[in-house]
Amino acid sequence: MSKTLLSVSDLRTWFHTDQGVGRAVDGVSFEVRAGETLGIVGESGCGKTVTSLSILRLLPEPPARIEPGSSIVFDGEELLGATQERMRALRGNEISMIFQEPMSSLNPVYTVGSQITEALRLHRKMDRVEARTEAIRLLGEVGIPDADRRVDEYPHQLSGGMRQRVMIAIALSCEPRLLIADEPTTALDVTIQAQILELLADLRARHGMAVLLITHDLGVVAEVCDRVVVMYAGQVVETGTVDEIFARPVHPYTRGLLASLPAVERRGQRLESIPGTVPNSTDWPEGCRFAERCSEVEDACAVQQPLVQLGNTSRVARCWRADP
Ligand SMILES: Nc1ncnc2c1ncn2[C@@H]1O[C@H](COP(=O)(O)OP(=O)(O)OP(=O)(O)O)[C@@H](O)[C@H]1O
Ligand SMILES: [Mg+2]
Repeated sequence: MSKTLLSVSDLRTWFHTDQGVGRAVDGVSFEVRAGETLGIVGESGCGKTVTSLSILRLLPEPPARIEPGSSIVFDGEELLGATQERMRALRGNEISMIFQEPMSSLNPVYTVGSQITEALRLHRKMDRVEARTEAIRLLGEVGIPDADRRVDEYPHQLSGGMRQRVMIAIALSCEPRLLIADEPTTALDVTIQAQILELLADLRARHGMAVLLITHDLGVVAEVCDRVVVMYAGQVVETGTVDEIFARPVHPYTRGLLASLPAVERRGQRLESIPGTVPNSTDWPEGCRFAERCSEVEDACAVQQPLVQLGNTSRVARCWRADP
């Protein structure tokens, strides 16, 4: 088993606002091993983005506060004690992030080339000529045709898929050991989505970097991830390898997510989706947080089940019905 690159334990990121305390991330633990792709999946509002922004310490504090007892260790270093200066260095050199909407992360008034060369000059100390050559190479590597011409174009001249490729090129420019991709394909149409996922898998294989892929879509997880963490209402409800989760989902929430995937044999039929919605993070239900939406709810669910280990594997689930 490869070594642990990132270890998140008992992470609690709460928002302290006039409307109350939003426990957006509420005791989350998982690890990312060197070179693997870990998926974090869950519906909107489950705390996926807050988790990833906590790792990079990109949340406004206040209102956000990473509560005492939380720990985020990257390659042996506790990040929650790190200075802002140290975090900036890590963000530029070791950990990169790509976001859902590439247009809002690219600066519209600069060419894509100048945005990549800026990163290269800052983080890899290249001179102008070297940086331009490397920018063109990176654009080619992420699958942009005519890279030597495209390098001088502005973001609005590119399609959505191309812009996401540029974002990936910028993220790769520092040769990170961990790439955090938060819904990198949600804004794209299905064909382009598949191409971007393929690109991510390909780059991961070639560069040996670890990827933390955040998505609400288990179909995306199936395509590119090794392991998956299922989040619900600010907590982890199940983890396992992708094969295990697809073959034997234990938590009713995971099963609900799987049932809402379009399967070839069910094409044309109505997809089952989980009734109800994720509650607001200021008022998570007492007991099992999923109980009010769960078709298998029983009396025991009034008290929350801690995560239980299933067999002697690294699989865990948070449900009274889970059989250790
Ligand atoms: N700046 C903020 N102030 C207060 N609450 C916030 C803030 N940012 C996020 N939250 C709350 O944190 C919770 C989790 O949000 P988060 O963005 O992590 O969800 P998500 O799982 O990424 O959802 P999505 O799939 O929609 O991106 C939500 O209830 C949200 O309202
Ligand atoms: Mg999000």
